[in-house]
Amino acid sequence: MRIEENYSLEKHNTFHLPVKTRWFMEYTNEEELGRILRDEYFQECLSLHIGCGSNLLFINDFNGIILHSAIREISVERESDEQVWLRVGAAEKWDDVVAYAVSKGWGGIENLSHIPGEAGAAAVQNIGAYGVEIKDVIESVETYNQLTFEKRVFTNEECEYGYRSSYFKNEHNDPYIVTYIIMRLDKHPVFSINYGNLKEALAKYPEITLDAIRKAVISIRREKLPDPEELGNAGSFFMNPVILVTQFEVLKVKYPEIPSYPAGEGKIKVPAGWLIEQCGFKGKSHGPVGVYEKQALVLVNLGEARGHEIALVAESIRTAVKDRFGIEIMPEVKYVG
Ligand code: EPU
Repeated sequence: MRIEENYSLEKHNTFHLPVKTRWFMEYTNEEELGRILRDEYFQECLSLHIGCGSNLLFINDFNGIILHSAIREISVERESDEQVWLRVGAAEKWDDVVAYAVSKGWGGIENLSHIPGEAGAAAVQNIGAYGVEIKDVIESVETYNQLTFEKRVFTNEECEYGYRSSYFKNEHNDPYIVTYIIMRLDKHPVFSINYGNLKEALAKYPEITLDAIRKAVISIRREKLPDPEELGNAGSFFMNPVILVTQFEVLKVKYPEIPSYPAGEGKIKVPAGWLIEQCGFKGKSHGPVGVYEKQALVLVNLGEARGHEIALVAESIRTAVKDRFGIEIMPEVKYVG
């Protein structure tokens, strides 16, 4: 267990905002987590559990306890001729898990290569890319209830997965801390390569393999998305809005080139990146906050940005998109403070 006071979170948020937390507490197993949670002082304090902060925007210093998991494990829980069930500790770096699965020849998460963050947060957030979401392989999620101190295993169905959402993302379900995730991977995988330019990017590989898909996805992501180590960012700042087909038809008359994806009966998903670009923000900077030049959905910290400055730029983008297209875009990033 590690406990730090007045601790800098600069390395714990991928915007690299120089905020501090009153306390930082890190546990390596469920027993240590239980000890922290049962402590009376903990119960009186404001607390927040974070992963590696790749989806957080800290507006101010955090006057409470930031909890962080250091539960590490990648192990085979069981296997059959066709499948393998992998148990992964919440603190494992997500991309290390993907690299491990690919090296073993187990398919299912190769399209999710190179996404920043940790395994537990990946399951809370239902990360997705190139036509695959983590929910497609989640068998179950192990949790610890911070109010009752009981463990509970959620089945995939009980996780109530949706686009970038889950049961655990709902603020009312805050007491559940994800400790482990169990994923069902395929020993004879069927590849999912039809999304966007993935197929094109795969053309230069002699054969389509898990490794080729991983490499192609990494090269597309490197090309389009800034590396948080070099330029602070939290990936897509907004979610892609889902609108009614009727509203889309009206927009399509005015903007025939508007891209779209089907999103269930009577609904259409429109890329927020396109909407933001149309409003003229792409590649522009507003003081220390930039809108990334290759993907307008990504806000970047050009150096000394503060959380409230990023939030202000996000707000002006939301207003501009609403005024021009009548579409409300919602942050994917979680604001803290
Ligand atoms: N587009 C523009 N301008 C832009 C950005 C995008 O016109 O500045 C257009 C593109 O031309 C394309 C469409 O928007 O027609 C979609 O773009 P892209 O394939 O880059 O995907 P996205 O919808 O913008 C989503 C995820 C990403 C994920 C990619 C690939 C969300 C909020 N974002 O982005 O996830 O990597 O698809 O699957 O769903 C993340 O969540 O942090 C993230 C990076």
